[in-house]
Amino acid sequence: MASNFPIGLFDSGIGGLSIYNEIKNSMPNESTIYIADNLNAPYGKKAESEIIQLSIKNTQKLVDLHCKLIIVACNTATTNAIEILRKKFNVPIVGIEPAIKPAMLETKSNNIGVLATEKTLSSNLFLQTSDRFSKGINIHEQIGFDLVKIIEENGINEELLIPKLREYIEPMLEKNIDHLVLGCTHYYYLMYLLKKILPNGVKILDSSRAVTKRVMNLLKDYNIDSNTSKTKNIFLCTGNDNVIKKFLSSNDKISKINL
Ligand code: DGL
Repeated sequence: MASNFPIGLFDSGIGGLSIYNEIKNSMPNESTIYIADNLNAPYGKKAESEIIQLSIKNTQKLVDLHCKLIIVACNTATTNAIEILRKKFNVPIVGIEPAIKPAMLETKSNNIGVLATEKTLSSNLFLQTSDRFSKGINIHEQIGFDLVKIIEENGINEELLIPKLREYIEPMLEKNIDHLVLGCTHYYYLMYLLKKILPNGVKILDSSRAVTKRVMNLLKDYNIDSNTSKTKNIFLCTGNDNVIKKFLSSNDKISKINL
């Protein structure tokens, strides 16, 4: 039996739109509801308990709006809260985690870099994953201090972002990384800036395709993929919509909500 209920996504702001775009490109018949909890952005420095509470609120809202599957389109919320969300809610939940495994499998220099938020890098889930795959490979971690804040407040402002990216990336290059894993959905939008800084030999890995594949498979497994081309995409935010509007197409409207 098909289901035409929407897929729900949430993030602390615009980052998860990178996943939304992948989902719509691969599954144009699916309707979606996206929550940008930008009133509370950034999540990356908050206490784990607060990230959990905010993730529960976002998920509850998407469940109340009848979402058939929820994507935690935020590495910080996934790595700190997904186990609790899965226990609490009776709906399939897909998360996003830094693509360490493919980087480990592909590296030739045995050095990979991971750029992520403070709370992703300190989470148990991240530590377990990096321990599990890291045999003989050095993982050079870097917190992307202020990157999410800058993006949420100013969009992709090269003048503000390039110096920060250089500061974070150069020490990794000195360690001879050949893969840079983007561990925050906001950083997807920094890809073209990173390409200006990184030498050709360094590959950038992001997890949005892997998440999309997982969602496709789950919809099939649960037999809940959509069978209509009449779709609706709803965008909700908890804070100011000035910046997020610029990341949406001109036909898309965004409404403010309180959670
Ligand atoms: N997009 C979120 C992530 O993937 C951003 C975290 C934040 O708000 O600091 O981690």
